[in-house]
Amino acid sequence: MTGDGTRAVRAGLPEPEACEAALPGPVFAAHYHLPGEAAGPYTYGRDTNPTWTRLEAAIGELESPDDPAHTVAFASGMAAISAVLFSHLRTGDAVVLPADGYQLLPAVRTRLESYGIEVRTAPTAGDAQLGVLDGARLLWIETPANPGLDVCDIRRLADAAHARGALVAVDNTLATPLGQRPLDLGADFSVASGTKALTGHGDVLLGYVSTRDAAQADAVRLWRKTVGAIPGPMESWLAHRSLATLALRVRQQAAGALALATALSERPEVTGLRHPGLPADPAHALAVRQMLPGRFGCVVSFALPDRAHAERFLTALTLVDNATSFGGVRSTAERRARWGGDAVPEGFIRFSVGVEDPEDLVADVVAALDAALG
Ligand SMILES: Cc1ncc(COP(=O)(O)O)c(C=O)c1O
Repeated sequence: MTGDGTRAVRAGLPEPEACEAALPGPVFAAHYHLPGEAAGPYTYGRDTNPTWTRLEAAIGELESPDDPAHTVAFASGMAAISAVLFSHLRTGDAVVLPADGYQLLPAVRTRLESYGIEVRTAPTAGDAQLGVLDGARLLWIETPANPGLDVCDIRRLADAAHARGALVAVDNTLATPLGQRPLDLGADFSVASGTKALTGHGDVLLGYVSTRDAAQADAVRLWRKTVGAIPGPMESWLAHRSLATLALRVRQQAAGALALATALSERPEVTGLRHPGLPADPAHALAVRQMLPGRFGCVVSFALPDRAHAERFLTALTLVDNATSFGGVRSTAERRARWGGDAVPEGFIRFSVGVEDPEDLVADVVAALDAALG
């Protein structure tokens, strides 16, 4: 079996043809005007599209190399998350969501509850999910969690959930399929925002759901068709094109994140430093067990003493944009409390490491920390 960097270069591509592009261009037609009866898979553009088919095959191969997963691409990560939840939960069901996951989950919770679905929450770390699993239909976990970077044991939670008849979905946004393979660890769904590290250039919104179960994939696909949360052909094509460099980006970002976290660990004004690749991190041992070697993601989280200190730091950075989102080739950082959705201190910084040379990035951060001391 080839390495996943090698696989990513060719994943989902058709056999090469002389004088044809390696990745055929995006198919934009909304529907197909075929003479006679519609035949074959491509009839109407909300159902399926050849550009998605290739991308979905590629992601399915990366999420599950030994047994390619059924994959359904979406217009965004939120569309993918909603598709799993709303296609599988019914009135009277119970679901467990992370208490410290992506900041839109509380809005999802309100919507689920309005449909008569019981929502329980549990923090990512410490196996707290086990205490609220009984009778649940679905366990949703996000690991590493955004922005706090706690990690949970996918295998252990999946075994416990399955023993109680519950399905398990993992938000794999931060790790990407080259950093973590939730389906191999027992999850039923691997779900992600492709907007982040998967596509990596900060120019595409995309999401996907991967599962090995054809019926579960069909339910998710029907949800996509019903709400029409379909990915644009151009976005799908750009995403597929970006996969060839995923391994390079993931490795470089992880190396930069580790270098940055190591430098930050030496600063007295930095508290609450988290990065799963850092040996001193509370999640490191578990991350080593379940993530792919050296691929602990691009995010480093930490706190500066207060809001003003954090703002001085962000202003003093020269190689890092003060911007939200993460996973792009350019480093970005933001004071997360400005959005109000996460339970984080005012000086909390979520730092997304790009593909710059780690030594340049570390020098820039150290200079900005010095400047922020005033
Ligand atoms: C962990 C995680 N999951 C899902 C999402 C939602 O993705 P999208 O913005 O593509 O809808 C985000 C967005 O930041 C995220 O960080």
